[in-house]
Amino acid sequence: MKAILIANPKGGSGKTTLSTNIAGYLASRGQHVAVLDLDRQKSATLWLAQRPGELPVIWPLQNGEGKRAEAADWLVIDSPAGLHGKNLEHALKLVHRVVVPIAPSLYDIQASYDFLQALGEMKAARKGRVQIGVVGMRMAPRTRAAVTLEQFLRQLDMPVLAYLREAQLYVNAAFEGKSIFDLPSYQAEHDVAQWATLLGWLEAGTD
Ligand SMILES: Nc1ncnc2c1ncn2[C@@H]1O[C@H](COP(=O)(O)OP(=O)(O)OP(=O)(O)O)[C@@H](O)[C@H]1O
Ligand SMILES: [Mg+2]
Repeated sequence: MKAILIANPKGGSGKTTLSTNIAGYLASRGQHVAVLDLDRQKSATLWLAQRPGELPVIWPLQNGEGKRAEAADWLVIDSPAGLHGKNLEHALKLVHRVVVPIAPSLYDIQASYDFLQALGEMKAARKGRVQIGVVGMRMAPRTRAAVTLEQFLRQLDMPVLAYLREAQLYVNAAFEGKSIFDLPSYQAEHDVAQWATLLGWLEAGTD
């Protein structure tokens, strides 16, 4: 079983959007996917509850049920804002990849930098067991936010795996329990293309 944690200290950075779309992508590839929702707001669980029965199944897991994911090919963990300390270390034990979505503001970039630095110093990351990558959320390349983010990340040696533009497509898909990968390509093609490097990184070495 391969497992991914989506985490960021800031609220509203795009964790649930990223988690649900990663889960939707993997399910669309015929993988057995479970989503573990660590957030008391239960947004990922709500998304799953809206999901139409004819779409590829994604299995919902609640806090404490992580062990039940062993039968799955993939476990995607959505986490609450501010996950840190022991809870973060516990979640890290379950995964081999961490994806950190960052919203386009100086405050988000600064707080995320501090988080990434702390994450990089944790044992799982230091030993190379867990790899960490960043996604510029609601961000376009070469904007001020993107350039600033890259300046910060240069000090950490962590890659920006994608810039995902702000698009109503994500908002509308979420209302229906869908990911952008569940939409017809004439609607989603442009946004799906922005995921290529991120998806390659998630799947690298997992065959
Ligand atoms: N690329 C995008 N385009 C448009 N809207 C987006 C995009 N990414 C996220 N959003 C919107 O931004 C808001 C916050 O996103 P999301 O709920 O995924 O963040 P979160 O980090 O899970 O928040 P919380 O910390 O509250 O759990 C949501 O309304 C979501 O629809
Ligand atoms: Mg969320």
